[in-house]
Amino acid sequence: MKIIIADYIYRDGKFAENLAIAFGTHIEAVDLPEKLLKKYPDAKLIRTKPYTVLFPGFINTHVHLEFSANKTSLKYGTFMPWLDSVIEHRDDLMKDCSNEIMQNECQEMLRSGITAFGAISSFGTELQVCEESPQRVVFFNELIGSNAQYADMLYGDFLERIKASQSCDADSLITPAVAIHSPYSVHPVILQKAVSLAKQNKMPLTTHFLESQAEREWLEKAEGDFKTFFEKFFNTSTPVTTIREFMHAFDTYPTHFVHCVQANDEELAYLAQKGHTVAHCPRSNRYLGCGRLAIEKLRALELPYSVATDGLSSNDSLNIFDEFRSAIMLHHQAPVQELSLRLIKAATEDAAKALGLNSGTLEVGKNADFALVTLPELPKRPEEIALWSILYTRQADAVYIEGEQYV
Ligand code: BEZ
Ligand code: FE2
Repeated sequence: MKIIIADYIYRDGKFAENLAIAFGTHIEAVDLPEKLLKKYPDAKLIRTKPYTVLFPGFINTHVHLEFSANKTSLKYGTFMPWLDSVIEHRDDLMKDCSNEIMQNECQEMLRSGITAFGAISSFGTELQVCEESPQRVVFFNELIGSNAQYADMLYGDFLERIKASQSCDADSLITPAVAIHSPYSVHPVILQKAVSLAKQNKMPLTTHFLESQAEREWLEKAEGDFKTFFEKFFNTSTPVTTIREFMHAFDTYPTHFVHCVQANDEELAYLAQKGHTVAHCPRSNRYLGCGRLAIEKLRALELPYSVATDGLSSNDSLNIFDEFRSAIMLHHQAPVQELSLRLIKAATEDAAKALGLNSGTLEVGKNADFALVTLPELPKRPEEIALWSILYTRQADAVYIEGEQYV
Protein backbone atom coordinates (compact mmCIF):
# COMPACT_ATOMS: atom_id res chain seq x y z
CA MET A 1 0.00 0.00 0.00
CA LYS A 2 1.09 3.57 -0.73
CA ILE A 3 -0.27 6.88 0.51
CA ILE A 4 0.15 10.00 -1.61
CA ILE A 5 -0.33 13.51 -0.24
CA ALA A 6 -0.65 16.47 -2.60
CA ASP A 7 -1.54 20.12 -1.94
CA TYR A 8 -4.55 19.79 -4.25
CA ILE A 9 -6.56 16.77 -5.35
CA TYR A 10 -8.91 17.15 -8.34
CA ARG A 11 -12.34 15.67 -7.52
CA ASP A 12 -15.83 16.54 -8.78
CA GLY A 13 -14.55 19.56 -10.70
CA LYS A 14 -12.91 21.06 -7.59
CA PHE A 15 -9.45 21.14 -6.07
CA ALA A 16 -9.64 19.68 -2.57
CA GLU A 17 -6.98 20.60 -0.02
CA ASN A 18 -5.74 18.50 2.87
CA LEU A 19 -6.63 15.13 1.34
CA ALA A 20 -4.58 12.00 0.67
CA ILE A 21 -5.09 8.83 -1.35
CA ALA A 22 -4.23 5.29 -0.26
CA PHE A 23 -3.66 2.95 -3.19
CA GLY A 24 -2.32 -0.35 -4.47
CA THR A 25 -3.15 -1.08 -8.11
CA HIS A 26 -6.50 0.61 -7.34
CA ILE A 27 -7.58 3.47 -5.11
CA GLU A 28 -8.29 2.06 -1.64
CA ALA A 29 -9.29 5.17 0.28
CA VAL A 30 -9.47 8.97 0.00
CA ASP A 31 -9.42 10.81 3.30
CA LEU A 32 -7.55 13.20 5.59
CA PRO A 33 -3.81 12.33 5.61
CA GLU A 34 -3.75 11.63 9.38
CA LYS A 35 -6.66 9.23 9.08
CA LEU A 36 -5.05 7.26 6.28
CA LEU A 37 -1.68 7.13 8.06
CA LYS A 38 -3.43 5.67 11.08
CA LYS A 39 -5.44 3.19 9.02
CA TYR A 40 -2.43 2.01 6.96
CA PRO A 41 0.61 2.43 9.30
CA ASP A 42 2.88 0.32 7.05
CA ALA A 43 2.07 2.17 3.83
CA LYS A 44 4.86 3.86 1.88
CA LEU A 45 4.32 7.61 2.14
CA ILE A 46 4.73 9.78 -0.98
CA ARG A 47 4.88 13.51 -0.30
CA THR A 48 4.64 15.58 -3.47
CA LYS A 49 6.37 18.92 -4.03
CA PRO A 50 4.69 22.15 -2.89
CA TYR A 51 1.93 23.45 -5.19
CA THR A 52 1.37 20.03 -6.74
CA VAL A 53 -2.04 19.05 -8.14
CA LEU A 54 -3.01 15.38 -8.31
CA PHE A 55 -5.20 14.62 -11.34
CA PRO A 56 -6.53 11.27 -12.54
CA GLY A 57 -4.27 10.18 -15.42
CA PHE A 58 -5.28 11.87 -18.68
CA ILE A 59 -6.87 9.77 -21.44
CA ASN A 60 -6.13 10.52 -25.09
CA THR A 61 -9.08 8.79 -26.75
CA HIS A 62 -7.94 9.04 -30.38
CA VAL A 63 -4.41 8.73 -31.77
CA HIS A 64 -2.92 7.12 -34.92
CA LEU A 65 0.54 5.93 -33.82
CA GLU A 66 1.18 4.37 -37.24
CA PHE A 67 1.51 7.86 -38.72
CA SER A 68 4.13 9.02 -36.20
CA ALA A 69 6.84 9.46 -38.86
CA ASN A 70 5.04 12.39 -40.46
CA LYS A 71 6.64 15.81 -40.10
CA THR A 72 6.18 17.66 -43.41
CA SER A 73 5.02 14.92 -45.83
CA LEU A 74 1.32 15.57 -45.38
CA LYS A 75 -0.29 18.74 -46.67
CA TYR A 76 -2.00 20.71 -43.91
CA GLY A 77 -4.56 23.49 -44.58
CA THR A 78 -7.56 21.91 -46.29
CA PHE A 79 -9.03 18.42 -45.83
CA MET A 80 -9.05 17.09 -49.39
CA PRO A 81 -5.48 18.00 -50.41
CA TRP A 82 -4.46 16.47 -47.04
CA LEU A 83 -6.29 13.20 -47.86
CA ASP A 84 -4.65 13.16 -51.31
CA SER A 85 -1.27 13.58 -49.62
CA VAL A 86 -2.10 10.67 -47.25
CA ILE A 87 -2.75 8.41 -50.25
CA GLU A 88 0.47 9.61 -51.90
CA HIS A 89 2.75 9.23 -48.87
CA ARG A 90 1.07 6.49 -46.85
CA ASP A 91 3.43 3.68 -47.86
CA ASP A 92 6.57 5.72 -47.19
CA LEU A 93 5.24 6.99 -43.88
CA MET A 94 4.41 3.43 -42.77
CA LYS A 95 7.84 2.19 -43.82
CA ASP A 96 9.57 5.01 -41.93
CA CYS A 97 7.49 4.51 -38.80
CA SER A 98 9.79 2.29 -36.73
CA ASN A 99 8.90 0.84 -33.34
CA GLU A 100 11.43 3.25 -31.86
CA ILE A 101 9.56 6.27 -33.25
CA MET A 102 6.25 4.96 -31.88
CA GLN A 103 7.82 4.12 -28.50
CA ASN A 104 9.13 7.69 -28.26
CA GLU A 105 5.63 9.03 -28.94
CA CYS A 106 4.16 6.79 -26.22
CA GLN A 107 6.80 8.26 -23.90
CA GLU A 108 5.90 11.80 -25.00
CA MET A 109 2.27 11.06 -24.14
CA LEU A 110 3.30 9.54 -20.81
CA ARG A 111 5.45 12.53 -19.85
CA SER A 112 2.51 14.84 -20.53
CA GLY A 113 0.40 12.79 -18.08
CA ILE A 114 -1.45 10.48 -20.49
CA THR A 115 -1.98 7.14 -18.71
CA ALA A 116 -4.37 5.61 -21.27
CA PHE A 117 -5.00 6.09 -24.97
CA GLY A 118 -7.21 4.87 -27.79
CA ALA A 119 -4.93 3.69 -30.61
CA ILE A 120 -6.60 3.66 -34.03
CA SER A 121 -4.86 0.90 -35.94
CA SER A 122 -5.12 0.48 -39.72
CA PHE A 123 -2.66 -2.41 -40.02
CA GLY A 124 -1.88 -3.68 -36.53
CA THR A 125 1.78 -2.61 -36.86
CA GLU A 126 1.78 -0.77 -33.52
CA LEU A 127 0.36 -3.67 -31.47
CA GLN A 128 3.73 -4.72 -30.05
CA VAL A 129 4.62 -1.15 -29.06
CA CYS A 130 1.21 -0.77 -27.39
CA GLU A 131 1.66 -4.06 -25.52
CA GLU A 132 5.03 -2.94 -24.23
CA SER A 133 3.99 0.62 -23.36
CA PRO A 134 3.16 1.20 -19.69
CA GLN A 135 -0.16 2.82 -20.57
CA ARG A 136 -3.58 1.23 -20.86
CA VAL A 137 -4.39 1.00 -24.55
CA VAL A 138 -7.81 0.60 -26.09
CA PHE A 139 -6.66 -0.97 -29.34
CA PHE A 140 -9.14 0.11 -32.03
CA ASN A 141 -8.78 -2.21 -35.04
CA GLU A 142 -9.96 -0.11 -37.94
CA LEU A 143 -12.28 -1.34 -40.68
CA ILE A 144 -12.11 0.42 -44.07
CA GLY A 145 -13.41 -0.37 -47.55
CA SER A 146 -16.34 1.08 -49.47
CA ASN A 147 -15.98 -1.15 -52.53
CA ALA A 148 -18.33 -4.16 -52.25
CA GLN A 149 -15.95 -6.28 -54.37
CA TYR A 150 -13.18 -6.14 -51.75
CA ALA A 151 -15.38 -5.84 -48.67
CA ASP A 152 -15.24 -9.50 -47.58
CA MET A 153 -11.48 -9.67 -47.99
CA LEU A 154 -11.02 -6.45 -45.96
CA TYR A 155 -13.42 -7.72 -43.30
CA GLY A 156 -11.41 -10.95 -43.06
CA ASP A 157 -8.20 -8.99 -42.55
CA PHE A 158 -9.93 -6.86 -39.90
CA LEU A 159 -11.03 -10.05 -38.04
CA GLU A 160 -7.43 -11.32 -38.03
CA ARG A 161 -6.28 -8.06 -36.43
CA ILE A 162 -9.09 -8.26 -33.87
CA LYS A 163 -7.92 -11.78 -32.95
CA ALA A 164 -4.30 -10.66 -32.60
CA SER A 165 -5.32 -7.87 -30.21
CA GLN A 166 -7.45 -10.34 -28.22
CA SER A 167 -4.49 -12.59 -27.59
CA CYS A 168 -2.37 -10.01 -25.74
CA ASP A 169 -1.23 -10.72 -22.16
CA ALA A 170 -3.50 -9.30 -19.44
CA ASP A 171 -0.57 -7.33 -17.99
CA SER A 172 -0.15 -5.45 -21.29
CA LEU A 173 -3.35 -3.54 -20.31
CA ILE A 174 -4.71 -3.85 -23.87
CA THR A 175 -8.47 -3.72 -24.52
CA PRO A 176 -9.40 -5.03 -28.01
CA ALA A 177 -11.79 -2.65 -29.76
CA VAL A 178 -13.41 -1.75 -33.10
CA ALA A 179 -12.99 1.40 -35.23
CA ILE A 180 -15.07 2.17 -38.31
CA HIS A 181 -13.04 4.45 -40.58
CA SER A 182 -15.86 6.79 -41.71
CA PRO A 183 -19.28 7.01 -43.41
CA TYR A 184 -17.69 7.51 -46.83
CA SER A 185 -15.16 4.68 -46.65
CA VAL A 186 -16.97 1.65 -45.17
CA HIS A 187 -19.57 -0.42 -47.03
CA PRO A 188 -22.86 -0.73 -45.04
CA VAL A 189 -22.76 -4.55 -45.06
CA ILE A 190 -19.38 -4.83 -43.33
CA LEU A 191 -20.22 -1.81 -41.18
CA GLN A 192 -23.19 -3.67 -39.72
CA LYS A 193 -21.11 -6.83 -39.18
CA ALA A 194 -18.44 -4.88 -37.32
CA VAL A 195 -20.98 -3.05 -35.12
CA SER A 196 -22.59 -6.41 -34.23
CA LEU A 197 -19.17 -7.87 -33.44
CA ALA A 198 -18.37 -4.97 -31.09
CA LYS A 199 -21.75 -5.31 -29.41
CA GLN A 200 -21.55 -9.09 -28.97
CA ASN A 201 -18.06 -8.89 -27.49
CA LYS A 202 -18.74 -5.67 -25.51
CA MET A 203 -15.78 -4.04 -27.24
CA PRO A 204 -15.43 -0.24 -27.33
CA LEU A 205 -16.54 1.20 -30.69
CA THR A 206 -15.47 4.39 -32.43
CA THR A 207 -15.78 6.08 -35.83
CA HIS A 208 -14.64 9.25 -37.59
CA PHE A 209 -17.79 11.25 -38.39
CA LEU A 210 -18.47 14.47 -40.34
CA GLU A 211 -14.94 15.79 -40.05
CA SER A 212 -14.97 18.02 -43.15
CA GLN A 213 -17.40 20.07 -45.21
CA ALA A 214 -16.36 17.94 -48.21
CA GLU A 215 -17.54 14.78 -46.41
CA ARG A 216 -20.96 16.34 -45.81
CA GLU A 217 -21.27 17.50 -49.42
CA TRP A 218 -20.40 14.03 -50.71
CA LEU A 219 -22.79 12.17 -48.40
CA GLU A 220 -25.67 14.62 -48.95
CA LYS A 221 -25.30 15.54 -52.61
CA ALA A 222 -22.68 13.21 -54.14
CA GLU A 223 -20.76 16.35 -55.08
CA GLY A 224 -17.65 18.32 -54.21
CA ASP A 225 -14.01 17.34 -53.70
CA PHE A 226 -14.86 13.78 -52.65
CA LYS A 227 -16.57 13.23 -56.03
CA THR A 228 -13.28 13.89 -57.80
CA PHE A 229 -11.49 11.69 -55.25
CA PHE A 230 -13.87 8.72 -55.65
CA GLU A 231 -13.93 9.02 -59.43
CA LYS A 232 -10.13 9.04 -59.50
CA PHE A 233 -9.34 6.26 -57.02
CA PHE A 234 -12.51 4.14 -56.91
CA ASN A 235 -14.17 4.69 -60.29
CA THR A 236 -17.48 5.60 -58.63
CA SER A 237 -19.54 8.75 -58.17
CA THR A 238 -22.08 7.38 -55.67
CA PRO A 239 -21.63 7.42 -51.88
CA VAL A 240 -22.26 4.07 -50.16
CA THR A 241 -24.45 5.53 -47.42
CA THR A 242 -26.30 8.60 -46.17
CA ILE A 243 -25.60 10.48 -42.94
CA ARG A 244 -28.87 9.25 -41.44
CA GLU A 245 -28.35 5.63 -42.46
CA PHE A 246 -24.82 5.68 -41.08
CA MET A 247 -25.88 7.14 -37.71
CA HIS A 248 -28.69 4.60 -37.41
CA ALA A 249 -26.21 1.74 -37.77
CA PHE A 250 -24.96 2.62 -34.26
CA ASP A 251 -28.40 2.98 -32.65
CA THR A 252 -28.11 0.08 -30.25
CA TYR A 253 -24.51 0.47 -29.07
CA PRO A 254 -22.87 3.59 -27.56
CA THR A 255 -20.07 4.76 -29.82
CA HIS A 256 -17.31 7.38 -29.65
CA PHE A 257 -17.88 9.67 -32.68
CA VAL A 258 -14.65 11.45 -33.63
CA HIS A 259 -14.65 15.10 -34.89
CA CYS A 260 -18.37 15.81 -35.68
CA VAL A 261 -17.27 19.34 -36.64
CA GLN A 262 -19.75 19.44 -39.54
CA ALA A 263 -22.64 17.72 -37.73
CA ASN A 264 -25.77 19.89 -37.58
CA ASP A 265 -27.96 20.52 -34.51
CA GLU A 266 -30.31 17.67 -35.37
CA GLU A 267 -27.48 15.17 -35.78
CA LEU A 268 -25.81 16.23 -32.54
CA ALA A 269 -29.16 15.90 -30.74
CA TYR A 270 -29.54 12.41 -32.23
CA LEU A 271 -26.10 11.34 -30.98
CA ALA A 272 -26.98 12.66 -27.51
CA GLN A 273 -30.34 10.87 -27.53
CA LYS A 274 -28.73 7.53 -28.37
CA GLY A 275 -26.14 7.80 -25.58
CA HIS A 276 -23.13 8.32 -27.84
CA THR A 277 -20.08 10.47 -27.07
CA VAL A 278 -17.82 12.73 -29.15
CA ALA A 279 -14.02 13.00 -29.45
CA HIS A 280 -12.86 16.59 -29.92
CA CYS A 281 -9.53 17.06 -31.74
CA PRO A 282 -8.96 20.84 -31.77
CA ARG A 283 -5.52 21.02 -33.41
CA SER A 284 -6.27 18.35 -36.01
CA ASN A 285 -9.49 20.16 -37.01
CA ARG A 286 -7.63 23.49 -37.21
CA TYR A 287 -4.67 22.15 -39.20
CA LEU A 288 -6.88 20.37 -41.76
CA GLY A 289 -9.17 23.38 -42.19
CA CYS A 290 -12.21 21.47 -40.95
CA GLY A 291 -13.59 24.18 -38.65
CA ARG A 292 -14.40 24.43 -34.96
CA LEU A 293 -16.52 21.90 -33.08
CA ALA A 294 -19.29 23.91 -31.36
CA ILE A 295 -18.63 22.52 -27.89
CA GLU A 296 -21.18 24.94 -26.42
CA LYS A 297 -23.86 23.04 -28.35
CA LEU A 298 -22.61 19.72 -26.99
CA ARG A 299 -22.85 21.16 -23.53
CA ALA A 300 -26.42 22.33 -24.06
CA LEU A 301 -27.34 18.85 -25.33
CA GLU A 302 -25.44 17.16 -22.47
CA LEU A 303 -23.52 15.26 -25.13
CA PRO A 304 -20.26 14.22 -23.40
CA TYR A 305 -16.96 14.72 -25.22
CA SER A 306 -13.31 13.80 -24.80
CA VAL A 307 -10.24 15.75 -25.96
CA ALA A 308 -7.84 13.93 -28.25
CA THR A 309 -4.68 14.68 -30.19
CA ASP A 310 -5.48 12.57 -33.28
CA GLY A 311 -2.24 11.33 -34.89
CA LEU A 312 0.93 13.11 -35.97
CA SER A 313 -0.64 12.86 -39.42
CA SER A 314 -2.65 15.95 -38.45
CA ASN A 315 -0.83 17.37 -35.44
CA ASP A 316 2.56 18.55 -34.20
CA SER A 317 2.67 16.70 -30.87
CA LEU A 318 0.84 14.08 -28.81
CA ASN A 319 1.13 16.18 -25.63
CA ILE A 320 -2.28 16.53 -23.97
CA PHE A 321 -1.38 19.93 -22.45
CA ASP A 322 -0.49 21.29 -25.91
CA GLU A 323 -3.97 20.13 -26.96
CA PHE A 324 -5.63 21.85 -23.98
CA ARG A 325 -3.84 25.13 -24.71
CA SER A 326 -4.89 24.99 -28.36
CA ALA A 327 -8.49 24.30 -27.33
CA ILE A 328 -8.41 27.42 -25.20
CA MET A 329 -7.31 29.50 -28.21
CA LEU A 330 -9.70 27.80 -30.66
CA HIS A 331 -12.74 28.38 -28.42
CA HIS A 332 -11.82 32.01 -27.88
CA GLN A 333 -15.32 33.10 -26.95
CA ALA A 334 -15.71 30.59 -24.12
CA PRO A 335 -15.15 31.81 -20.53
CA VAL A 336 -11.57 30.66 -19.96
CA GLN A 337 -11.83 29.36 -16.37
CA GLU A 338 -14.96 27.36 -17.08
CA LEU A 339 -13.51 25.99 -20.32
CA SER A 340 -10.32 24.87 -18.53
CA LEU A 341 -12.33 22.90 -15.98
CA ARG A 342 -14.44 21.42 -18.77
CA LEU A 343 -11.34 20.30 -20.73
CA ILE A 344 -9.90 18.56 -17.67
CA LYS A 345 -13.20 16.71 -17.11
CA ALA A 346 -13.34 15.83 -20.82
CA ALA A 347 -9.87 14.24 -20.77
CA THR A 348 -10.45 12.30 -17.53
CA GLU A 349 -13.96 11.34 -16.41
CA ASP A 350 -15.76 11.69 -19.75
CA ALA A 351 -12.94 10.05 -21.72
CA ALA A 352 -12.91 7.05 -19.33
CA LYS A 353 -16.66 6.58 -19.81
CA ALA A 354 -16.32 6.85 -23.59
CA LEU A 355 -13.62 4.15 -23.68
CA GLY A 356 -15.14 1.96 -20.94
CA LEU A 357 -12.13 2.33 -18.63
CA ASN A 358 -12.32 2.08 -14.84
CA SER A 359 -10.30 5.29 -14.56
CA GLY A 360 -10.83 9.03 -14.91
CA THR A 361 -11.85 9.92 -11.36
CA LEU A 362 -10.14 9.68 -7.98
CA GLU A 363 -12.76 7.49 -6.33
CA VAL A 364 -12.36 4.32 -4.29
CA GLY A 365 -12.17 1.28 -6.58
CA LYS A 366 -10.86 3.17 -9.61
CA ASN A 367 -7.49 2.32 -11.19
CA ALA A 368 -4.59 4.06 -9.45
CA ASP A 369 -3.64 6.08 -12.55
CA PHE A 370 -2.39 9.58 -11.63
CA ALA A 371 -0.87 12.61 -13.32
CA LEU A 372 0.83 15.05 -10.94
CA VAL A 373 1.32 18.63 -12.03
CA THR A 374 3.46 21.13 -10.12
CA LEU A 375 2.45 24.79 -10.36
CA PRO A 376 5.16 27.48 -10.44
CA GLU A 377 3.91 29.15 -7.23
CA LEU A 378 1.12 28.99 -4.68
CA PRO A 379 -2.07 29.66 -6.66
CA LYS A 380 -3.70 32.79 -5.29
CA ARG A 381 -7.23 31.57 -5.93
CA PRO A 382 -7.79 27.77 -5.86
CA GLU A 383 -10.77 28.03 -8.23
CA GLU A 384 -8.31 28.98 -11.02
CA ILE A 385 -6.12 25.89 -10.71
CA ALA A 386 -7.45 24.23 -13.88
CA LEU A 387 -6.34 27.19 -16.01
CA TRP A 388 -2.95 27.54 -14.29
CA SER A 389 -2.34 23.80 -14.68
CA ILE A 390 -3.09 24.03 -18.40
CA LEU A 391 -1.01 27.15 -19.01
CA TYR A 392 2.08 26.14 -17.02
CA THR A 393 2.39 22.41 -17.75
CA ARG A 394 4.45 20.92 -20.54
CA GLN A 395 5.35 17.78 -18.67
CA ALA A 396 3.79 16.15 -15.63
CA ASP A 397 5.93 16.05 -12.50
CA ALA A 398 5.08 12.38 -11.86
CA VAL A 399 2.86 9.76 -13.50
CA TYR A 400 1.43 6.54 -11.96
CA ILE A 401 -0.30 3.67 -13.73
CA GLU A 402 -1.79 0.75 -11.76
CA GLY A 403 -0.09 2.25 -8.72
CA GLU A 404 3.41 2.13 -10.24
CA GLN A 405 5.41 5.27 -10.93
CA TYR A 406 6.63 5.69 -14.54
CA VAL A 407 7.66 9.38 -14.59
C1 BEZ B 1 -12.56 3.58 -49.36
O1 BEZ B 1 -12.29 2.39 -49.27
O2 BEZ B 1 -13.62 3.98 -49.81
C2 BEZ B 1 -11.56 4.63 -48.89
C3 BEZ B 1 -10.31 4.25 -48.44
C4 BEZ B 1 -9.43 5.23 -48.03
C5 BEZ B 1 -9.79 6.57 -48.06
C6 BEZ B 1 -11.03 6.93 -48.51
C7 BEZ B 1 -11.93 5.96 -48.94
FE1 FE2 C 1 -8.30 10.20 -36.72
